Amino acid sequence: MTRKPPDHRNLSLVVLISGNGSNLQSIIDATESGRLKARICAVISNEPDAYGLKRAEIHEIENQVIDHRSFTSRKAFDQALHRSIRSFEPDYLVLAGFMRILGSAFIQANVDKILNIHPSLLPAYKGLDTHQRVIENNETEHGVSIHLVTPELDGGPIIIQGRYPIDASDTLADLKRRGHQLEHRMYPLVLQWLSEGKLQIRDNSIVFEQHPLREPIEFENV
Ligand code: GAR
Repeated sequence: MTRKPPDHRNLSLVVLISGNGSNLQSIIDATESGRLKARICAVISNEPDAYGLKRAEIHEIENQVIDHRSFTSRKAFDQALHRSIRSFEPDYLVLAGFMRILGSAFIQANVDKILNIHPSLLPAYKGLDTHQRVIENNETEHGVSIHLVTPELDGGPIIIQGRYPIDASDTLADLKRRGHQLEHRMYPLVLQWLSEGKLQIRDNSIVFEQHPLREPIEFENV
């Protein structure tokens, strides 16, 4: 199916969250300051108590709860989510701490459109509790990845990675704080690149500055 190319002057985004929404806040701040030429058409949470919904409300952004517990199957939840998203006709779906696994039918229906931020240097530490596992394994480095979502969990092409060293004395809270600091700079930047056309997503691959991206961009080199 061909879809209309995104309006690079002003992307429309739907942001999916499950919790605090600090990444959502960084995107809201970037749009409000004019650094990011994008409009958040809606924030959708699968968790009714997600603080990110409050953030959306404060900034007068349409927000909805689609509680996965109200559905008898994953498929039914995905279908309801898809119906709601379709009504906003967004250019991109931005997963910002969205903690539900999306089924492959949903992902296929939104091919080249879904971005996710994950708190590890993918492909290392897919899944949950990344900070805990990194500490348990005495890793000396950790980080954040932003990637395209494909049916393989946390396995789509990686756009950018930000990394930071770990000290033996670092706690979970230290890693979370440092990861978030990076995330809040990285996500708005990637969306800005998309809005400028510097970054493009085609046929499940990433094109950066007109060239196929063969390795993730290193945030510290940007
Ligand atoms: C972020 O650290 C994000 O990387 C992580 O959830 C956090 C949400 O924070 N995402 C995942 O673990 C996805 N597998 P936020 O709600 O404050 O933006």
